[in-house]
Amino acid sequence: MLINGKAYRTIWFEKNIVKIIDQTKLPHQFIVKNLRTVKDSIKAIKTMEVRGAPLIGVTAAYGLVLSIIEKNDQSFLRESSDSLIASRPTAINLKWAVDRMMKKLSGVNSNEILKIALEEAKTITEEDVNFCKNIGLNGLKIIEDVARKKKDTVNILTHCNAGWLATIDWGTATSPIYHAHQKGIKVHIWVDETRPRNQGANLTSFELNEEGVPNTIITDNAGGLLMNRGQVDMCIVGTDRTLSTGDVCNKIGTYLKALAAKDNNVPFYVALPSSTIDWEIKDPTEIPIEERDEAELSHIEGLDKDNKLQKILIYPQKSKAMNLAFDITPARLVTKLITEKGICVASEKEIKKLFNQSNIS
Ligand code: MRU
Repeated sequence: MLINGKAYRTIWFEKNIVKIIDQTKLPHQFIVKNLRTVKDSIKAIKTMEVRGAPLIGVTAAYGLVLSIIEKNDQSFLRESSDSLIASRPTAINLKWAVDRMMKKLSGVNSNEILKIALEEAKTITEEDVNFCKNIGLNGLKIIEDVARKKKDTVNILTHCNAGWLATIDWGTATSPIYHAHQKGIKVHIWVDETRPRNQGANLTSFELNEEGVPNTIITDNAGGLLMNRGQVDMCIVGTDRTLSTGDVCNKIGTYLKALAAKDNNVPFYVALPSSTIDWEIKDPTEIPIEERDEAELSHIEGLDKDNKLQKILIYPQKSKAMNLAFDITPARLVTKLITEKGICVASEKEIKKLFNQSNIS
């Protein structure tokens, strides 16, 4: 998608170097960063220079490519894969991508290993682009339907950044929006600011602006009132891990938005590629919920009057804070899941039917 009128992806491979857009610097600075070692990849995921479930999966896949370039050794590769999986706990795409790579690479001792690793990382990348494109084409039908009935602008609320910056291209929650916009359907997006890291304001609003999609940033607590006033036609959010039971784990605050949507009869959609489905865990309390540094809450970063990036403390110095990064929205609050395969009810039966997984208990 576009930044300054130029088409980009979030990650690419060039002359044995992985290139990423440093998302900790957006929207104020556009910096392309080089990842040269597996350690660089782990750091980029931990510090959220790259973030979003599908993108951290692909970064981990390329991290293993870098590990092989550094040292073609099976025990180093295993260590690298363990460290990559541990770099962020909640999004399942990370483990999914590493496991998929390791299936191809474990036990391969020939010089062919680099070629195999690169091919698999590229396949995962292209697959994600196609998944996201198809999520968009499937979700477009929902937006078209509302636009046809309403005969006016469709107002969509989204939380965090499940945009193209969280994937490779198109995004998940934003893909139906971009497809609708490109088709000439009038859409307007309510963008939850998404404290504490402000992925909504800093990333979603930024990328929608670059694509010319009308949007308004709101505080995380404003959605309920807007829904109550009839100013939201639907919510579309992304997810970091969706259980086969239909329970959805996503950025903290998603659950409260789903509750407000239910109370106001606003449809609540979750957009996801199949790589985000956890087929193993059934009990949502078993999902590891990332707890991040409290400094992300107590400090805020922005441009000062001289256009310099500054970080300032906004809390009382003696106060403690707790920074839980994700929550779980129970399946009963989810209207439908929008996937690359189609749209389905958030229930085990429907999800398994859609993905032909009837043999998984
Ligand atoms: O902590 P983040 O910024 O990695 O969280 C991202 C989200 O919660 C997204 O909604 C999710 O990863 C879906 S990405 C298409």
